[in-house]
Amino acid sequence: MPTKSQHPETLVLHAGYRSDPTTTAVAVPIYQTTSYQFRDSKHAADLFGLAEFGNIYSRIMNPTNAVLEERVAVIEGGVAALALASGQAASLFAVQNICQAGDNFVSSTDLYGGTWNLFLNTMMKTMGMEVRFVDPSDPENFRRATDARTRCYYAETLPNPKLEVFPIAEVAKIGREEGVPLIVDNTAAPVLRTGSSSPRAAPPATHPARRAGGRRTARRRSFDCRPASSFSLHPGCFPAR
Ligand SMILES: Cc1ncc(COP(=O)(O)O)c(C=O)c1O
Repeated sequence: MPTKSQHPETLVLHAGYRSDPTTTAVAVPIYQTTSYQFRDSKHAADLFGLAEFGNIYSRIMNPTNAVLEERVAVIEGGVAALALASGQAASLFAVQNICQAGDNFVSSTDLYGGTWNLFLNTMMKTMGMEVRFVDPSDPENFRRATDARTRCYYAETLPNPKLEVFPIAEVAKIGREEGVPLIVDNTAAPVLRTGSSSPRAAPPATHPARRAGGRRTARRRSFDCRPASSFSLHPGCFPAR
């Protein structure tokens, strides 16, 4: 049974998984499987049809990863997290999830070089998603670069290598007004929650980017999320389409 504790020290150890109900072993098992047995063909059809939640195939989900993802989501106050193999994969997934060829997104110029390269050379030149770099020292630059095809804003909490704190609250507010979610790479500051020593005691709404979440235009399938290290975190403020 997952822990009911509110303490971060306990959550990092026990959120998402407490012990195996049969053996009472506390270490998270490493499930070395690609496949899962279905109860019957209806069960398989429901899983593949997304009518029922469960394990289908390890490329899509895995019970070991699921514990890690749930743990990160609880610690960060999100509704869900997705673990990926690298930070660049998390950045790519986060933007590509809501941005298609022909769309654009606005990124802070204070950016890790690899991400700059990913946005400019890979996503813009080969995938057709336009990146618009703006100087974050004036948050209004994000608004000025926004148009009807802008799908998200992107920034780093503590940019690598500049370490100039990004104005999250200001840009998130502009995003709420413009209907554009803010994606934050939180690599340099792993837990962002503020206002309490306990992540759970501080509701997700206390996160400035979360607070910025609000009404979405129907055609935007978007949410504020953070590729924190190798995680794409969904704080739950922008409902999926
Ligand atoms: C801020 C930031 N974001 C993303 C990355 C990329 O992470 P990874 O090397 O895991 O792809 C780095 C790597 O140094 C980084 O500093």
